[in-house]
Amino acid sequence: MDEIINWIQASTYTIIFTGAGMSTESGLPDFRSKNRGLWAKFNPDELANVHALNHNFEEFTNFYQYRLREIDSYKPHPGHLILGRWEQSRTIHGVITQNVDGFHHDAGNNNVMELHGTFRKFYCNVCKKEQDRERYLNGSNYCHHCGGPVRPGIVLFGEMLPEATFNQAELETFKAELFIVLGSSLTVSPANMFPMVAKEHGARLVIVNREATPLDRFADSIIQHKSIKEFLIEIDQQLK
Ligand code: APR
Repeated sequence: MDEIINWIQASTYTIIFTGAGMSTESGLPDFRSKNRGLWAKFNPDELANVHALNHNFEEFTNFYQYRLREIDSYKPHPGHLILGRWEQSRTIHGVITQNVDGFHHDAGNNNVMELHGTFRKFYCNVCKKEQDRERYLNGSNYCHHCGGPVRPGIVLFGEMLPEATFNQAELETFKAELFIVLGSSLTVSPANMFPMVAKEHGARLVIVNREATPLDRFADSIIQHKSIKEFLIEIDQQLK
């Protein structure tokens, strides 16, 4: 841990990359943890994709209303708040996240790149007009403007990542001297390319994850014995 403290203190540009493991200590299930992940309960091939939006809209909507209610019942944990404070103090310079829960914004981070979109926005899949989140939660899942199907502002399997966000994340990764992964299995592309892009551009790579990842062999340091929250609290205390 001491070497990570030194790297954070020496780095002039540090980027954090988070996955679902960042939010499990808020209560939200991740996707692939053994027996606990969300995809152990639901099959993403049935629901979390464009086909379901177009051909199984009722099931699709029921699933995402369930996900929305679940996310709304949790909030950022102290680890999120530490990342928010670190950006304010320029200890870190941005957060690239695969998460759609909006917790990094709630915790005070501004430079947040949500590669997989966000549950904070809803829009019509036909006219693209933004829709009211509360109305969606209360069952109005057709566009008030054109009657088209309303969907969450997240990236579904089979869709492209938002181009502007992806390009910004790439530019931030190019600038990183230190790139810290928090709570991702690093199994979903193209998001899982960023740690390697950072490495190829000379950054040090730290991976904090309960389970092994396919990129561990490229990391300068791997932390598996601590949870994300424990890791951030411990580092934060030693940086003070
Ligand atoms: N501390 C440390 N590691 C944790 C913790 C924790 N408290 N909780 C979970 N983890 C680890 C798990 O061991 C797992 O390896 O976090 C990792 C989360 O991996 P995934 O569940 O695969 O989530 P993620 O990498 O974010 O998935 C990427 O897949 O389904 C899509 O769009 C979805 O954004 C998601 C993407």
